[in-house]
Amino acid sequence: MSDPVLSRERPTRAYVLHPDLKEAQARRLPEHRLAEAVSLAGALPDLEVVGADVVRLPKPHAGHLFGTGKLQEIKQKLGDLEVDLVLVDGPVSPVQQRNLEKEWGVKLLDRTGLILEIFADRARTREGVLQVELAALSYQRTRLVRAWTHLERQRGGFGFVGGPGETQIEADRRAIDEQVIKIRRQLAKVVKTRELHRAARRKVPFPIVALVGYTNAGKSTLFNRMTGADVLAKDMLFATLDPTMRGITLPSGRKVILSDTVGFISDLPHELVAAFRATLEEVLEADLILHVRDISHPETEEQAEDVGEILESLGVAEDVPLIEVWNKVDALSPEIRAALAVQDARRGDIQAVSALTGEGLDALTAAIESRLGEERLDEVLNLLFAEGRARAWLHEQNVVRSERETKDGWEIAVNWSTSQRQRFRAL
Ligand code: GTP
Repeated sequence: MSDPVLSRERPTRAYVLHPDLKEAQARRLPEHRLAEAVSLAGALPDLEVVGADVVRLPKPHAGHLFGTGKLQEIKQKLGDLEVDLVLVDGPVSPVQQRNLEKEWGVKLLDRTGLILEIFADRARTREGVLQVELAALSYQRTRLVRAWTHLERQRGGFGFVGGPGETQIEADRRAIDEQVIKIRRQLAKVVKTRELHRAARRKVPFPIVALVGYTNAGKSTLFNRMTGADVLAKDMLFATLDPTMRGITLPSGRKVILSDTVGFISDLPHELVAAFRATLEEVLEADLILHVRDISHPETEEQAEDVGEILESLGVAEDVPLIEVWNKVDALSPEIRAALAVQDARRGDIQAVSALTGEGLDALTAAIESRLGEERLDEVLNLLFAEGRARAWLHEQNVVRSERETKDGWEIAVNWSTSQRQRFRAL
């Protein structure tokens, strides 16, 4: 998507608004959400964020989102700051967008539009590019009412008052639909090639270790530390859209493939889920997942929950071993570090590190080594009818090889790891 606003000579002056909708589930503070939106905007090249605000919005106005008073107040501010582009961190309907652009005399992007711009800027693999194009087209299709600028320019600008006529919209819509069909066909081909690559890779006898985590958690920095590779690591969201893989040798001499993935963000607009998932598919192949967390972030718990939900929705099997990497411990106060160390000791699947200083990385490599090296055991268990929950757990963990009903319960043959065995005993 080449947007005229984003390619001027001086950097585009952007203003970020986070509408604080009362009905929306308020799991996070609006101020933190605003900060995330500002970070997102900062990930776009040639863009300067000159201001940002949370706008309380008890009830969104159908025509122009904000109430009349707010509208004027914001207009004044935008004028004073010579703003070219307003980023609204939430959904804005096509009608609202048109009205606000006219009222304020600026270009406006909503959250989906902003993330699309970033994905478009960062997509590296063929599949990533196609998925982003597809998402952009369906987004644009819904925006045709406002005379989408690109198509408008192609038409030579007849200057229809109030946008193009119905026939023109129909024609534009058809053009988009044709484009969508073309891209889908290309995607099908790409996916096929990728499957071939994958099958070939499966034959490589190296386990795959995937780094996942919230955006800005420090995945690329950790990846670089561990591989000594020069993968883009900047204080920018989405420094990695498509998975990057590289082989490393662990101290024991064992080789593994480390795979870096795109960062998660909160409330990914649903139109973008497919594009995002396409970039995360490598995780499904992983033998071990490293969930990298920015443990110094005030909302680290909420972020971890989001990541857990997405992994689950991707269909990552529960029995894929996972290590939580608590990154950025260097940024914590000694008191907080001490408190975390207690939790850490209790859970056992946590490694506290600093990708920046290198602290804790030896222990992390050792943990990777031991988790991958975990033996699988065959065992036969006898459960009583009263132990239905334990039986259900075994099925959930997908370790049951065969099962037979006996006089007073079940005889179950399992194949499991020692850690699963331990967790079962603890049940
Ligand atoms: P995305 O590509 O957006 O998903 O980000 P990422 O998770 O790959 O994060 P990245 O490695 O780009 O790091 C984000 C920011 O955190 C950078 O400014 C890093 O310098 C910083 N950072 C990474 N690790 C640490 C750490 O251990 N301590 C501190 N203090 N900062 C860190």
